[in-house]
Amino acid sequence: METGSAFLTGKTIPVPPSPRGLTNPYKTARYAARRQALKTKAVAAPPRPASSPPAQNSSTSAEQTIADEAKYVLQTYVRPKMVLERGDGVNLWDTEGKQYLDFAAGIAVNSLGHSHKEWLRAVEEQAGQLCHASNLFHTAPQARLAKRLVENTPWADRVFYSNSGTEAVEAVIKFARKYARVQAGEDPYSTESNAATEVVCFSGAFHGRTMGALSLTAKEQYKTPFMPIMPGSVTAKYLDLESARQCIKKGKTAAVIVEPLQGEGGIHMSSQAFLEGLRELCDEAGALLIFDEIQCGLGRTGKLWAHEYFGVQPDMMTLAKPLAGGLPIGAVLLKQKIADVMAPGDHGSTFAGNPLVCAAGEAVLDVLLAPGFLQAVHDNGVALRHGLREKLGSNPHVKEVRGLGLISGIQLDVPAGPVVAAALEAGLIVITAGKGDVVRMVPPLIVTQEDVQKCVDILAEVIPQALAAEMPPVS
Ligand SMILES: Cc1ncc(COP(=O)(O)O)c(C=O)c1O
Repeated sequence: METGSAFLTGKTIPVPPSPRGLTNPYKTARYAARRQALKTKAVAAPPRPASSPPAQNSSTSAEQTIADEAKYVLQTYVRPKMVLERGDGVNLWDTEGKQYLDFAAGIAVNSLGHSHKEWLRAVEEQAGQLCHASNLFHTAPQARLAKRLVENTPWADRVFYSNSGTEAVEAVIKFARKYARVQAGEDPYSTESNAATEVVCFSGAFHGRTMGALSLTAKEQYKTPFMPIMPGSVTAKYLDLESARQCIKKGKTAAVIVEPLQGEGGIHMSSQAFLEGLRELCDEAGALLIFDEIQCGLGRTGKLWAHEYFGVQPDMMTLAKPLAGGLPIGAVLLKQKIADVMAPGDHGSTFAGNPLVCAAGEAVLDVLLAPGFLQAVHDNGVALRHGLREKLGSNPHVKEVRGLGLISGIQLDVPAGPVVAAALEAGLIVITAGKGDVVRMVPPLIVTQEDVQKCVDILAEVIPQALAAEMPPVS
């Protein structure tokens, strides 16, 4: 998928003026002064140098935070022993003043980096105007963001909002099941039904942690303690059409869900033939085709949607992570034929699509859709992988460097944890993927040529050292 246009432009992408530009008649002088102060602090202040002391406002020491977390927070995460305090662009600082180059972006979330000027302006403006009103009322940012998402997605007609990726996946399961009932000519509210209910997913997939989405997620260890999973979850082999054919059945399969590019699974690209084949199999079986672009969508690959590379259109698509630039949001884009079966009361969420997150989403789209921005994402990704291949290609533990746009992975034949730890020590944040044997890079989409080069240089230095010791292969 890499093309000849592998060269970096290194240019700064101009951000068009925000279409909002709304003035708030309710703003008080105190609010305006506070906003000005915030702006000065968060936007204009240059980052403190790496050696600078902790920020004045860090009232809790790192040790205390780590101790409190260990004592009071449910231990479902393993975290390094540092406390992040603030960010600016592609950089983060911990409470000790140490600077990090952020090539994780909060797991592919901070699409515009940290404290992006346009994003901050939109969030501040909206927070000072109206933050939440529930879905019992109309609010303008929700309708505006939906309009822009639909207008930029040729096959989509409607948007449903959620608060996260996993909730977007829950929504598509529900939509698909009700659609199947209506297609079967049934009364969807009848307690008796013979309509299709199964959802086919794929090996290596990650769709989330709530019960429905979890059932469609591949890793057994995520599911086993919480059995039984959702009935009707069927797993086929990723990139294997024959396996998909065995699983997709008329009258049984309501939907097929697939990531056009698997992120958590280890940065694995699907193919045009595979997605075209799935489209045909779904059409033959009367099943819906769902693309999960929660990680690979919204500019991550250098196109607005990853599936644009393959020319295949789904019936529904799930979005989340980068859509509001760091605020919690999820969304489903869907075709009218599915929207037609959903009625008021069929699904909902208290917070979803509130004015604050939607205003943030508009600011994100303003930047992503500015001329030249996605091309720069593509080119910076090509340069990153080119640099990594050049410097690490001869390392016996580096099996492959792969990716598309700014989602990249270094496939190792040993665990990637030591590399991630060594990179952190050296001031670079990267994360793992796959079976823990892939170093994953999903930086903010605003990275520059210099950021990419810095990442390459740090990994070129730490990988040989981190992998020098004998390590068992990944099972
Ligand atoms: C492809 C994909 N789908 C769904 C999810 C779940 O999203 P969330 O963590 O927001 O629930 C993720 C999260 O990593 C993802 O990568």
